[in-house]
Amino acid sequence: MCGIVGYIGAQQAAPILLEGLARLEYRGYDSAGIAVLGARGAAKVVRRVGRVHALAAAVPAKTSGRVGIGHTRWATHGVPSETNAHPHASADGRIQVVHNGIIDNAAALRARLTAEGVELASETDTEALAHLIARANEDTLEAAVVAALAQVTGTYAIAVVDAATPDRIVVARNGSPLVIGVGEREMFVASDAAALVRHTSSVVHLEDGELASVTATGFRTFTREHEDVAKTPTTVELTVEELELAGHEHFMHKEIHEQPSSVERMLGGRLDDRFGSARLDGLRMELRELRGFRRVKVLGCGSAYYVGQLGAGLIEDLARVPADAEPASEFRYRNPVIEPDTLYVAVSQSGETADTLFAVREIQRKGGRVVGLVNVVGSSIARQCDGGIYLHAGPEVSVASTKALTHMSVGFALLALALGRVHDLSHADGARILAGLQALPGQIAEILADEETIAEAGRRLADARSLFFIGRVRGFPVAREAAQKFKEITYRHAEAYPSSELKHGPLALIDADLPTVAIIPDDGLVGRNLAAAHEIRARGGRLTVITHPGVDLGDLEADRIDIPRNEPELDPILLTIPTQLLAYHAARALGEDIDRPRNLAKSVTVE
Ligand code: F6R
Repeated sequence: MCGIVGYIGAQQAAPILLEGLARLEYRGYDSAGIAVLGARGAAKVVRRVGRVHALAAAVPAKTSGRVGIGHTRWATHGVPSETNAHPHASADGRIQVVHNGIIDNAAALRARLTAEGVELASETDTEALAHLIARANEDTLEAAVVAALAQVTGTYAIAVVDAATPDRIVVARNGSPLVIGVGEREMFVASDAAALVRHTSSVVHLEDGELASVTATGFRTFTREHEDVAKTPTTVELTVEELELAGHEHFMHKEIHEQPSSVERMLGGRLDDRFGSARLDGLRMELRELRGFRRVKVLGCGSAYYVGQLGAGLIEDLARVPADAEPASEFRYRNPVIEPDTLYVAVSQSGETADTLFAVREIQRKGGRVVGLVNVVGSSIARQCDGGIYLHAGPEVSVASTKALTHMSVGFALLALALGRVHDLSHADGARILAGLQALPGQIAEILADEETIAEAGRRLADARSLFFIGRVRGFPVAREAAQKFKEITYRHAEAYPSSELKHGPLALIDADLPTVAIIPDDGLVGRNLAAAHEIRARGGRLTVITHPGVDLGDLEADRIDIPRNEPELDPILLTIPTQLLAYHAARALGEDIDRPRNLAKSVTVE
């Protein structure tokens, strides 16, 4: 979704802003722009619809100035267009604003400004903010921003510059992330530390309700009540290499192939052989507390929700504690009953998904305890939760998530194990799961080594206009996530069903043009799953079967993908891996923009 970058220091701002915006491209956007302030005079503003490289080509080489702000926009109020792109300016062009989030009372503010004689240049909510700041009648930019924000309801991260005082950038945060990057006699601001990776790893996170005045030599953070807030920079562990393709054609491919080593890293130090359990200090919970929970509720959005469903299954399997998953986006709006003996688990790669964050706050307001399974360290959800398990997947650039989801399911396995071992899971069973977890990195590598078989099957699926993905019980969340991945990057219609539900309706759609990917692990349901596959084949449906060696498909005609066996509870983690490659190779055969699927954003920071 939208991205913000700002620079103030001794270097030329424009190239730094453009490079930072390029690093935020993965978040999804439809237009981009920068405003650069010289020593005096008006801001130089360039905005373009489309990619950052188009913007870079449009920025005159002589654009000089050591202060500036930049933005990638994902349209909410108003179509993607040059006039709706940020930065937005006051009538005299003095104030320039970039904004992430949504101003809820924008219509009323725009109407009021129009009534007062202001001519609005765009259809956006952000422009109102620029006019409010310019008209605030305050002595300093900081005070003017505070006065303007007092009239605004909604979510925002903003960066503001004033051509009359080109020695500072004023930023504010409410519900959308914002960091200050600390350099040597230069400072940065960004909505995502990834934008700053080439310049600094020292960052300060703003909290909701906080502002900062950033100059070339330092920063001052304060509240909307003008009270100073002391902040100490923290170090982000992010390297330039992690954000580059490293020889892969796409980030999605790179991230799929990182999984053996990233999962190994994630498990490091967390497996407790002595007690046959998981070591999860980040939960900040005594064993007795952990034992006290009678129920687990998992909340996440999109793929994180599907993995949440897989995780709830793992928890029920290992801990015998009732567990279920629900889309966070629905949960927070249905006035849920919050119970003190329920452990709530928020799951998110980015840690910034607005619906998940607001669900966490709703639970906490009503006295519930929430732990997070989050990838991005220091993200809003990670900081909001009462404890959690960092996923340590490393940065994920591809919009379609792969390795972070695998890490989520491994995170759930660790949580399930820890919960199980304070309930009825025996030491022997705990040790069995530990061994299974230890085997995962090698087994993922084994699956990836057979990429060509999977790629061929994926290419054969590329011509279908519509597909089914089916699985049962443990296999159903796998099918749901597989369908999601396929549709996101191939733009093919893909739907997941429990295999058991086929004959209750969807079977009517099966014919030679609607292939099915069937998840058939060698578990107690293998016979029933095979029967469903035969029913599909009997109606002329094409099949791709993901299964275990030794499963006898008989005369079933199908593309077969075998994966190594782990423990039955952990098999879903491995069953998901080939589905990532199926989607990837189908999309590649179709020539789609795999890392940046249309209409999607990496981090959904608006509701
Ligand atoms: C799918 C995908 C999305 C995210 C969802 C939640 O590939 O990436 O469905 O899973 O938007 O995002 P996070 O995990 O950042 O909360």
